[in-house]
Parts: sequence; C-alpha cells; structure tokens
Amino acid sequence: MALQIRQVLLALYCITIFSLFSRYNFLKDQNPPSSYNYFDHQVLDAAGYDPQAYPSYFSTIEDDKFKDSIRPRAEVISLQRLGITSTSAKAVNVDDFGATGDGTDDTEAFEKAWEEACSSKGAVVVEVPEGKSYLLKPIRFSGPCKSNLTIQIYGTIEASDDRADYKEDRRHWLIFDSVDNLLIEGGGTVNGNGKIWWQNSCKINKHLPCKDAPTALTFYNSKNLKVRNLNIRDAQRIHVSFEQCTNVQASRLTVTAPKKSPNTDGIHVTHTQNIQITNSVIGTGDDCISIVSGSKNVHAMDITCGPGHGISIGSLGSGNSKAYVSGVTVDGAKLSGTTNGMRIKTWQGGSGSASNIIFQNIEMYNVSNPIIIDQNYCDQDKPCNKQSSAVQVKNVVYKNIKGTSASEVAIKFDCSSSHPCQGILLQNVNLQEQRDKTTKAICNYVKLSEGKAVSPQCP
Ligand SMILES: *[C@@H]1O[C@H](CO)[C@@H](O)[C@H](O)[C@H]1NC(C)=O
Ligand SMILES: *[C@@H]1O[C@H](CO)[C@@H](O)[C@H](O)[C@H]1NC(C)=O
Repeated sequence: MALQIRQVLLALYCITIFSLFSRYNFLKDQNPPSSYNYFDHQVLDAAGYDPQAYPSYFSTIEDDKFKDSIRPRAEVISLQRLGITSTSAKAVNVDDFGATGDGTDDTEAFEKAWEEACSSKGAVVVEVPEGKSYLLKPIRFSGPCKSNLTIQIYGTIEASDDRADYKEDRRHWLIFDSVDNLLIEGGGTVNGNGKIWWQNSCKINKHLPCKDAPTALTFYNSKNLKVRNLNIRDAQRIHVSFEQCTNVQASRLTVTAPKKSPNTDGIHVTHTQNIQITNSVIGTGDDCISIVSGSKNVHAMDITCGPGHGISIGSLGSGNSKAYVSGVTVDGAKLSGTTNGMRIKTWQGGSGSASNIIFQNIEMYNVSNPIIIDQNYCDQDKPCNKQSSAVQVKNVVYKNIKGTSASEVAIKFDCSSSHPCQGILLQNVNLQEQRDKTTKAICNYVKLSEGKAVSPQCP
C-alpha cells in the first residue's frame, strides 16, 4: 500500500515537473530571442566581423527539427498514458472526419475537422497523420476560433492540380483567415503541386495571358502566429504569405521549388508587423523572402537561399502607389547562385519610403547582383516612362558582407534622380568576382556614408 502511494506521488511529481517544463518551453518559444532588439543598436557599432555570430546552419536546423518533432507528441502521449487526457489538449484527427490520405479528395473531411476544432473550447490539436498524403482543393480556414489551435502536420498535404477547382478564388489554396494564436508545426509537407500553373504562366509561355495563380499557404488578418518545422514545396505561386498579420514567428521552414518555376516566392510579407523569420532554407524560382508595402519590424535571421532571386524589399510603388516599409533586419544569411543578394526595388512614379534597413553578416556565393538598389524597376511588357516621384530609400546599412559575385557589378545603387538614396552605409563589405576578375560598383544618385573596408568602392 505504502509503495502504491509512493508510486502515485512520484507520478504526480513527474507530471508537475513535466508541465512546468513544457510551459517553460512554450514561454521560451514565445519570447523573441535575446538578439531580437540587439540589432537596432548595431548600426552604431563599428566592430569587425565576428565569426561567433555566424551560426552553423545545418547543425542548428537538424538539432531543432529533432527537438521539435519529439516534444509535442511525447507530451500528449505521456499524459494520455496516465489517464489525464482532460488536462491535455483535445485531439482532432482528420482521419476521424473521413479523410483517407489515399489520393482521393479529402477537402470535406478537413473542413469538418476545422469546424470541430475551431468551435471547441479549450486547447485543441488538429492532427494530420504521418505517412499519408491528403489531397485538397482550396480551403479557407476561417476564425475567430473559440480557443487557441495547434495544427500538427506530420504527413503530407497536397494541392489539387485541377485548375477548375480554383475558379471561385484563383489566388489562394490554403488560407487561414482571422485565426489568432495559431501554431502550425509537425515536420510534415505542404505540396502545392504547382507544375500545371507554371506551364500556364505567361512568364513561361509568352502567348498566354497573365492570370493569377494561387498562393499555397496564406495567413491573413491574424495575430500571434507560429509556423515552424514544415516543408513547403512546389507552390502554384508564392509558397507562404503573411498578409495583415501581427506578431509572427516563422522558423525552421524548408521551402523548395525548381529554379525555373515562375513567381514562386518563398516567404512573402505584406502589411505585416513584428515578424521574425529564422533558421530557414529556401530555394525557389523567385524571391527567397519578399517584403512589400505596409510591413514594419521584419527580422530575418539565419536564412539559407538559393536558387532564386534573393532577399527583396519590394517591389514598391507600382502603378503610382504609396508604399511604406521600415525596420527590416536581415542578419545571418547565406545565398548561393541567386540572381540577387540583398535587393531593394521600387517603381518610378510611386511615393512613400523604404527606411531603416540593415543587412548584415551575409555570405554570398556566385550571386549575380549581390547588393542592389533599383529605383527604376520595371517588370512589365511596355517600357516604363520616366517619372518625377519615387519611393524614398533611406538609412540602409550593409555590414559584414562577403563572398563572390557572378557578375562584374557587385554593388549597384541605381537610385532616383529626383529622390536620391540617402544615408546608405557600407561597412566591411568584400565582394570578389567569381572568376577572379575585378568587381565594380555603380553608384547613381546615392548619398553614401561610406565606412571602412569596402570593396568594390563607388567611383
Ligand atoms: C490563447 O493565447 C493567448 C496568447 O498567448 C493567451 O493570452 C490566451 O489566454 C489563450 N487563450 C486560451 C483560451 O488559452
Ligand atoms: C555562377 O553563376 C552563373 C550565372 O548564374 C552560372 O552560369 C555559373 O555556372 C555559376 N558558376 C558556378 C561555379 O556555380
């Protein structure tokens, strides 16, 4: 008897410790890393390159993947074993709603599972089981929900490639609309199956009209999101888009699509504030990360890019629009074989500003335009006319940037004659030509506060 009581006490003790530990992990994940606010002060810091500040990507990614795929399951299972399911989250498994994962349409089952999860009170975990592939037509997962949801994607979610399925909304495949406090993870795969869309893109087949294609995964009008430890591949167009969101942590994402797939941006940020994108590997046919109008406080850390078009702010100001982007930090990135490295692109005729931007601790290998500000961006059939207004580019820091350029022009500041670029600081930048030729910088209408150790230099 005494032994049994001791066993029960021991079990309770373990549960308490475990829940404290999980809580700690949760809180730890919620708080931005301590480095988050650090970089705002870094602008003034003239220290040299610190190899310690440059993590080993692959070990970080692997370790974290391991940690993450183990933890949530262990938590649920250990509680279930002890018969205390009531205190743990309610599991909503898509298979219980008729999903088969055998290649037939599972849209209805996912919709039902969502309805159940979103209307339940108390913590809910939606589970997409491992080892199966669930075929889905476009779905809108709408909130607000009654509780905070977790979605565990262990298996694969695959998009219907019948374009007729998208006739009501050609721009979205999976969209989370107004779902606050959402966590998505699980190590599984979201596959946009985009080949049919690429083949029919006007960028691939010039005879076809330019039409919208769906973004694979959209988060819209949502607060406090965590999206982590997922593979997203072969999107119809953009892979992951955050639109009008606040407080977002995207981490340990692996985003892949062929180099020739058109408009397949990796992670797109628009009208979104306070977003961190960390520890992610992105190789697609378009921008690795694209940050456009209305975005503020965007921190990208430990990002590996290539192939693709690099990390881009813009395009901004198309169709004479007003655009604002501020507070962007890219800290710790490796780019290989991309067409651009760090790019800011704006159309003539726009207005507004792109300001307070830091690019630092970046390594490039064979990048065609490693550092570029293009205020004469023009991505349309007819040539763009010269216009007098422009999106103002100011306060941009490039620090600790090294590597090789695939072209002779390693630095290009092609700014607006009416609104020259202001407060551009280069420090400890060394970009060599890939084949040992000398590199050069083209610098039009740029007000440079050039720091130390820069090669190539503006003429
Ligand atoms: C949901 O998450 C938010 C933010 O973390 C928290 O403030 C709130 O209490 C949570 N709600 C429930 C029902 O757990
Ligand atoms: C470098 O990039 C150029 C242009 O993208 C490409 O043609 C070339 O094969 C690349 N070289 C290496 C060594 O990767």
